[in-house]
Amino acid sequence: MPVTRVGVDARLFVETRIADRVWREYRMEGTMPPAIEIEGLRKTYRQFGRRLGRHTRQETRRTVAVDGLDLSVPEGGVFGFLGPNGSGKTTTIRCLLGLVRATGGSAAVLGVEVPEHLPERISRIGAIVESPALFQTMSGRENLRLLAAIDGIGAKQVDDALERVGLADRSRDLVKKYSLGMRQRLALAAVLLKDPALVILDEPANGLDPAGMRQVRTLLRSLGDEGRTVFVSSHVLSELEQICDSVAILRRGRCVAHGTVPEVMASAAGGTAMLVGLDDLSTGQAVLQRAALTVERQNGYLRVEVGTDSAARITEMLAAERLWITEMRAEERSLEDLFLELTDDSGTVDSSETTHFQTTQAETTQAQTTDAKATQEVAS
Ligand SMILES: Nc1ncnc2c1ncn2[C@@H]1O[C@H](COP(=O)(O)OP(=O)(O)O)[C@@H](O)[C@H]1O
Ligand SMILES: [Mg+2]
Repeated sequence: MPVTRVGVDARLFVETRIADRVWREYRMEGTMPPAIEIEGLRKTYRQFGRRLGRHTRQETRRTVAVDGLDLSVPEGGVFGFLGPNGSGKTTTIRCLLGLVRATGGSAAVLGVEVPEHLPERISRIGAIVESPALFQTMSGRENLRLLAAIDGIGAKQVDDALERVGLADRSRDLVKKYSLGMRQRLALAAVLLKDPALVILDEPANGLDPAGMRQVRTLLRSLGDEGRTVFVSSHVLSELEQICDSVAILRRGRCVAHGTVPEVMASAAGGTAMLVGLDDLSTGQAVLQRAALTVERQNGYLRVEVGTDSAARITEMLAAERLWITEMRAEERSLEDLFLELTDDSGTVDSSETTHFQTTQAETTQAQTTDAKATQEVAS
């Protein structure tokens, strides 16, 4: 969990005050910029693999983790950053927080370019990326008190934060005795201490049991309802679907769908179909196929790839052959279906064509390249 001493550096202090004033003006004018704006973001990792020959050649593998990502996260509410494992969610978040350097593109957070101007905004951003660093041999409360002291935050806020995440009863227990879910909630409490305008959480539901997940969901929704922007990633859509105002679906480092949940559903409406029930499915299928329609049998129905406006036409065509429809309805697709369809096969980027393999000439004298597992970030 990044802890930054804003105000220690006088220049930074002044910049922060100016930035805050600009932010208040935006708010008054109703011209708030998006909470997060990402344009053409790219991040390539280079991994040194095994040595190919004696001293001379080394296999270098490039993984395109984020591949020209465009994304705009509106201010306020809960934004779900969804994608399967390896689709680039953590890398994107790390770029936003200045934890890795992007290879290309640009990003702005709370109206300022990052990473250059991140220090001006860091006091308004609460983020949890990867497992948060907590002192195991201190109680939950002591951990928070310590963090609070750094930012000049009082004991009352610490107690409020613990209450809010449902840890008040257990706050005096040592962190090493906490379950994973309790640690996650303690980290969330630490985030709340800052009273953040923007909360960035990378897979906060990971490792939580259903009850813990539900608690986290309720908390995130209430943060969104207070007007904060909650940017939360997950590889499991069902964890977030109910609480998100908007979502972006990531696949191989690119955004494949973006908008409010109804918008995303509508944008994928190209795949609409009607389900038709009738006694003689095979004859019905043949009749509709003769009319050049795409028809398949599915769970005792014919699935016809047409919109609802074609219902009358289908009825007519079948009736002309004395085939009587017993049921007809539009196929319902859940966001889950859509998510799986859009992210199908993406898995990890390593196995996709967006991963570039190349073999480079390695300097024989470069001792650092001998580490078979060394990972280095490159700006290419
Ligand atoms: N430090 C790293 N070095 C090399 N490759 C990395 C590194 N971090 C992530 N990757 C690769 O980048 C891709 C995206 O990873 P990541 O951003 O962690 O995805 P997600 O968070 O969506 O699971 C993956 O293929 C992953 O293996
Ligand atoms: Mg991740």
